Amino acid sequence: MRLKNKVCLITGVASGMGRAAARRFAQEGAKVVGTDVQAPAGEAAMQEVKAQGGDGFFVAGDISRPEDAREMVRRGVERYGRLDVLYNNAGIFPSDDCSVINTEPEVWDLVYRVNLKGMYLMCRYGIPEIIRGGGGSVINIASFVALVGCSVPQDAYTSSKGAVIALSKSLAVQFGPKGVRCNAVCPGPVETPLLMQWLLSNPAEKAKRINRIPMGRLGKPEEIVALAVYLASDESAWTNGAAIVVDGGITANYF
Ligand SMILES: NC(=O)c1ccc[n+]([C@@H]2O[C@H](COP(=O)([O-])OP(=O)(O)OC[C@H]3O[C@@H](n4cnc5c(N)ncnc54)[C@H](O)[C@@H]3O)[C@@H](O)[C@H]2O)c1
Repeated sequence: MRLKNKVCLITGVASGMGRAAARRFAQEGAKVVGTDVQAPAGEAAMQEVKAQGGDGFFVAGDISRPEDAREMVRRGVERYGRLDVLYNNAGIFPSDDCSVINTEPEVWDLVYRVNLKGMYLMCRYGIPEIIRGGGGSVINIASFVALVGCSVPQDAYTSSKGAVIALSKSLAVQFGPKGVRCNAVCPGPVETPLLMQWLLSNPAEKAKRINRIPMGRLGKPEEIVALAVYLASDESAWTNGAAIVVDGGITANYF
């Protein structure tokens, strides 16, 4: 077990990669504080973890609301006594986020509120607890789109994920000396429900994207979570301030 007894707070456990992370982290021996704004689905995900013999519980809340973010951390520390890992996975990619020239200001603000302000708030309340417990790891989910341009733009999402990488480096430098490492993960396109229902529901659109991936397929949630297990574990004790790409080679592909 690579995460035995580590207290890990994961945001966005109701769906996709967060759900897969809650399951795998518990299998690796972590005590999982699973959080999400979708209460019934998040609760169901954590029930699944417990049914498999895992240790964890669910806290409902919106990461972009300071009182909710503070409460998620407080409830985790109350139950398990400390926090070792903050896994900032929750993020949104609304379909009406397009180019700067045709994205509405409300959509832009919403994306930034969740993807960036939410991460800031979780770090604001989570990092002091990790320091108090003697150190640990912050894992911030960015995206491969922060590293390459795309002719089908999602400019609010893309730029918010670029900011996630910059924020992660700043946190790594500030809190590394206090024993808290911070790394960003840049997944390529992963088969999660939202992406499949929306962006990839059209076979031609799906094929266009798969053609760009040297591995010839989309990623699986578990393949991103595998890196997160490393980053949460003591195996990554000297990995700090990195932006690690897991994308089947898509960002390495010129033609
Ligand atoms: N799916 C992909 O291809 C892909 C690629 C690169 C990066 N990412 C990033 O990976 C992360 C997970 O993506 P996913 O595909 O699993 O998405 P998903 O939509 O399946 O899951 C995201 C979860 O976050 C939750 N959430 C959204 N807003 C929230 C809020 N304000 N407070 C609390 N929880 C909230 C949702 O309810 C949902 O359960 C996101 O940050 C996403 O941007 C996804």
